[in-house]
Formats: sequence, C-alpha cells, structure tokens
Amino acid sequence: MKTVIETYTTRARCQELIRRAGQILKNGGLVAFPTETVYGLGADALNPLAAKKIYEAKGRPCDNPLIIHIAEKTDLRRIASGVDRRVEDLAEAFWPGPLTLILPKKDIIPGAVTGGLDTVAVRMPRHGAALEIIAAGGGFVAAPSANLSGRPSPTCAGHVMEDLGGRIDMIIDGGPTDIGIESTILDMSEKIPVILRPGQVTASQLREIVGEVAIDPAVEAKSHPARAKAPGMKYRHYAPRGTLSIVAGEPGAVIREISRLAECAAGQGKRVGIIATDETVPCYRKQGWEIKSIGARGDGAAIAANLYRLLREFDAQRVEEIYSEAFDALPSGQAVMNRLRKAAGYRVIHV
Ligand code: TXA
Ligand code: MG
Repeated sequence: MKTVIETYTTRARCQELIRRAGQILKNGGLVAFPTETVYGLGADALNPLAAKKIYEAKGRPCDNPLIIHIAEKTDLRRIASGVDRRVEDLAEAFWPGPLTLILPKKDIIPGAVTGGLDTVAVRMPRHGAALEIIAAGGGFVAAPSANLSGRPSPTCAGHVMEDLGGRIDMIIDGGPTDIGIESTILDMSEKIPVILRPGQVTASQLREIVGEVAIDPAVEAKSHPARAKAPGMKYRHYAPRGTLSIVAGEPGAVIREISRLAECAAGQGKRVGIIATDETVPCYRKQGWEIKSIGARGDGAAIAANLYRLLREFDAQRVEEIYSEAFDALPSGQAVMNRLRKAAGYRVIHV
C-alpha cells in the first residue's frame, strides 16, 4: 500500500484534504491525523472491518480497546449510556480537550472496537483539523496513537511515516503536536471516577468538577503491573530500542551517577545517550555521548512535548544505553513519569 503524506497550507487545500480523508474513512480505510496530544490512526468506529485494519497496521493486541473520537459533544449519547450530570459537567469543562471518558457502551459500537468490553472510551479532541476529519468521516472515528504497538507515540507526521508508512492510506501533516503525551483517561463507569492513565488534565482539576476521584494503582506502579483497568497500560509501551534507565534523587547526585553509568557503558563500547534538562546539559562530559535537553527544569509542558521525540531520536542514532534524569517534582510530573517509567521497563535507580 502506498501511504500519501499531505500538508495543509491554505484553507482551500485543507478543505480538499479533509474531504479526501473523510472519503477514505467512510470507505473503511485508515487515515493518520494530528490531535493536540499525539497523532491518531483513524478508522470508522462503526465499521468492525475498518477497526480490524487498525489492529493489523499497528500490530496491536486485539484485547486492547480503541478510543472513539467525536466532533460534537452531543454525539456522546449516541454511543454511550450513563451520561449523567457529572459526565456532562466534565465534557463542558474539558471538551474539546485531552480528556477521555470511559462509559457503558451502546450496541451501535462494535465489540471489535472495545476489545470485547461493555464500556467505551470517548474523547473530543481540541484540534481544528482533527474535528473536521472526524466530522467528514461520519462523526465516530476510532483512533489509537499512530505508532507501531509498543513504540513511542508519534508527535509529528514523520514519526507516523516511520512506523506506519506503507501500511495505511493517508497521513495528514499538521506539524508537531502541542501537548506531546496522550489524553488523561477517566473511568466514569465506576461509582467513584478512576484515572486509568494520567495526562495533561490532572486529578485535582477533575476533582474540582466531580469531587472524589481515585487513581488506578497501575498509574503509579513501580514495577510492571500484572493488571490494569485500561488494558493498554499493562503492555510494554513507549519504549525506545535502546535500554533506558531513570536515575532519581538529589540533582548533584543524579548527575554524578548518570556520568558514572555513562562512562561505564561507553567503556564497554556502547553508544550512550542522556536525557538532561537545559540546566544540567553543561554538567555532563560531552565527547562521544548524545546529550539531549528535554526542556527547562520547571517547564512541564516542554518536557511532555519533547519526551517521545527524544526517545525516537536516540533510536535513529542507534543509542544503546540511555540514562534519564527523573522529573517527578513538576506539575505534569505524574503523567511524564508514568510514560518514562514504562519506557524504561520500570528501571529506576535511586541515589
Ligand atoms: O490522546 C490520546 O488519547 C490519543 C489521541 C490519538 O487521541 N489516543 C490514544 O489511544 O492514546 P491509544 O489507543 O494509544 O490508548 C488508548 C488507551 C489504551 O490504554 C486502552 O487500553 C484504553 O485507552 N482504553 C480504551 N478503551 C477502554 C475501555 N473501554 N476501558 C478501559 N480502557 C480503555
Ligand atoms: Mg497508544
């Protein structure tokens, strides 16, 4: 299959691309498109055969359900039940935006999309082109992140091409994504809402709207969780090809330990990479090591936006051992560290 990659430059061009993307979706094809979080791989959510193609293209386990993207808040009631006052308030507060809600599903949604579960994940993205593509595709677009299963999520069209070129019909290039990590997932099918995956929308923001909110133990797991309510959270995920280790502790000690580990690995002839911050980059010895800044220490938004790109860059440079500083202390620290711990296979060294 030939994958076309298209950029919209003018309004007229954008309209033409959206019409073509909508047509491909309605015909059961696959279109990757930008959202404010990461690029999604879209298929018509009401067509089980189209959904099946997503699993094939990504190499995704078929028990891992997809998020359905809508372009109108009112469409939620067509695919989900249990839309009570709390759900309406959440949609009002955070949609369009990076929040996915889990609710009991209606029969219109095929089991092939929900991995056989009786609940459905729904989100309305905050991205103009995404909303128009969803509407043009019929209004219900199943879209997981547009990466090969297990690889870091794509934050630009080039990442999608790298993973899925030749496997999907079209990629709409909208430039780098804003947020850079996937949406917060909140399970509203339980009496007390539960965060299944942390994201830019934080627990305290959600509590302001719905009161008590629990956090699934898998979110803060220090080792590979055997169980997770979001099936996707139990798989190896977001991983670069090299071995990633996180070093956590007081900044000076972290720099010393990463430098020691890097010397050691380089001494064994390995290519070494370091994930540092603007402030700490100058503290590492340079020759032969790939030292990258993920952003300024206090800039949680930059750190989230750069994480997956850095992991992919290390892959392209064939780095074998990657050492990362930890970013717990930031406001978005929970979401970033959740992804980083998983990418590291839970290898965290405390100093
Ligand atoms: O930001 C995002 O959410 C991106 C963009 C493209 O919208 N999408 C995304 O989709 O991250 P994906 O498929 O990579 O992650 C969806 C997660 C998986 O961990 C999956 O297991 C979980 O959502 N999920 C989907 N439906 C669910 C359900 N009914 N119950 C529990 N978890 C569910
Ligand atoms: Mg994903």
